[in-house]
Amino acid sequence: MHLSCRSIRSSSLVQTPIILLISAMPLLAQGQTDVGIPVTDPLVVAKCGGCHAADEQGNLQRISWARATPEGWQEALKRMIRENDVSLTPPEARAIVKYLSGRHGLAPEESKPVMYYAERRVHDEAGLLNATLLEACAKCHDAARALSWRRTAGGWKQFAETHSRRYRFKPDQDAVAYLGKVAPFYTREWASWSTRTHAPATTGRWLMTAHVQGRGKFHGEMDVEAAGGDEFLTRMRLRSVADGVVVVRTGRSVVYAGTAWRGRSQGISAASAAPDDLSTEAREAMWVAPDASKVEGRWFWGQYEELGFDVTLQRASSDPALLLVDPPSFKAGSNANRIRLIGDRFPAQVTPADVTVGSGMTVRRIISSTPSEIVAEVDVAADALAGKRNVSFRSSTLESAVAIYDRVDYVKVTPESSLATFGNQTYSRGFQQFEAIGYQRGADGRPHTADDLELGPVQVTWSMEVFYEIDANKQDRVGTVSPTGFFTPAAANPGNNYDVWIIATAKTEKGKDGKPLVGKGYLVVTVPTYTFEGRTFVRELDRWIEEGSSAR
Ligand code: HEC
Ligand code: HEC
Repeated sequence: MHLSCRSIRSSSLVQTPIILLISAMPLLAQGQTDVGIPVTDPLVVAKCGGCHAADEQGNLQRISWARATPEGWQEALKRMIRENDVSLTPPEARAIVKYLSGRHGLAPEESKPVMYYAERRVHDEAGLLNATLLEACAKCHDAARALSWRRTAGGWKQFAETHSRRYRFKPDQDAVAYLGKVAPFYTREWASWSTRTHAPATTGRWLMTAHVQGRGKFHGEMDVEAAGGDEFLTRMRLRSVADGVVVVRTGRSVVYAGTAWRGRSQGISAASAAPDDLSTEAREAMWVAPDASKVEGRWFWGQYEELGFDVTLQRASSDPALLLVDPPSFKAGSNANRIRLIGDRFPAQVTPADVTVGSGMTVRRIISSTPSEIVAEVDVAADALAGKRNVSFRSSTLESAVAIYDRVDYVKVTPESSLATFGNQTYSRGFQQFEAIGYQRGADGRPHTADDLELGPVQVTWSMEVFYEIDANKQDRVGTVSPTGFFTPAAANPGNNYDVWIIATAKTEKGKDGKPLVGKGYLVVTVPTYTFEGRTFVRELDRWIEEGSSAR
């Protein structure tokens, strides 16, 4: 299994310092057939043109034939600073990343498949690519790191040569040829996107839904105000579906190339010391849809960016909009259930006829309604077929909003495999939040297959089991899992790796054998991961893309 950066596999870099090969400066020139992107920014020409010489059209060697995400440009710049002694002040560095991410960026269609990298998600890359590329380029880091770039076939070849010399591996020619095909410099998507207007249309009011691992769903709204060019000020109010807790945050963001939203936000009330406090400052990486009707992504924090919100924004309009339905599932043959429809601009008068639920479900009455929430009573027929149902308020429909089930067949712990880390002098601890989700076996009658129905969170008690550690008292050396499924590694770093089962035992749901349903997640608790540091300046600027050029 090929998992991404925070995965277990990535511990191949653990504490293996990489010795740089400072080679004699290679020739930068390359035979170009593609038309390059001229560099018009005087700062970029001044800072990069000394080594990357300009031609008559204003193309800088290499740079004019490369496109990348903001993360890609940030990494390239870091490397220029670290290895080629390029000297830049922080504002200069931010301005250069900003210019290149905008003019030499990726179209939304190109960046979408690699968003998980910017979002710092644990991602299984196996399905994404061909095996040769995974073998050649996903051994030391995510393949998404490569696929965040677009280069000419010659550019990929040159890159692979330098890269393999630097990190001492044999470049696989098939992988390099494959990159030339799947990540070419010239694409129709970019040709079309780059000629359209790039002023990102993100100001105004947005409706939000979010999910926080372990805390369930949130809903609310965000107001986005222009702060000059592609920079914005944000204010958002989120409310927990589960307990009504409200979080108000403010932030600022940059939308690079009209699609790559990068920003930062924090709660207006100071965050507590709890690592998962929802007011904690977060970095934001989101994708703006080509028609600017939708924005989606992740806000994250933590030493390993393991905590955060999964966020979706949709444009607010003057019409009623249904955003969320709670609870997410109902048992067949249950009557007088309460269903909550959460949304925006619901009218003052609501009748059962305004609410459409799927077959086998009947809306009996409206219990209460406000502009943002309708509570109704529904019956579910005993013979209702198991499956997903759409729910609508008038013409606003949420697809597959609820699931009807006969019984909970099993409990799955998410994430199924994960990583937590002890701290040391340099790194603070890395945590992990677990969730227990109920499933029904699906139409094929077999559990653990693709057609299984997800039913939502199940009430469980949490426990853990350290492999090869029969003495339960010694588990403290590894860490603890809280009643809400939050794993905290032990404060002392034992200098060792541990394999752990995180176990969820259902409080009420039972299996065919009459015993409570049990789910297990696999957790590796490890020593802090060695990360590539370089000079202090480079480390400080690690997060500059979220700040834009006007940040101090
Ligand atoms: C002191 C000389 C020097 C300066 C100044 C310099 N570079 Fe480079 N750059 C190099 C060398 C040498 C290489 C080729 C070897 C390598 O890839 O590291 C290179 C390679 C690159 C590449 C990789 C090409 C590829 O195919 O990915 C990028 C991107 C790049 N530089 C961007 C920049 C940017 C942006 C600037 C201005 C901030 C800059 N460089 C300034 C020397 C320089
Ligand atoms: C032997 C390990 C290793 C292999 C194999 C490897 N890389 Fe890398 N790669 C690295 C390291 C180390 C970094 C720098 C990490 C850092 O700066 O944090 C890196 C960084 C990068 C970057 C970021 C930009 C830059 O220039 O630093 C890109 C793009 C990249 N790799 C692409 C590839 C591609 C494409 C392949 C396959 C041909 C590949 N890598 C194979 C170790 C490897």
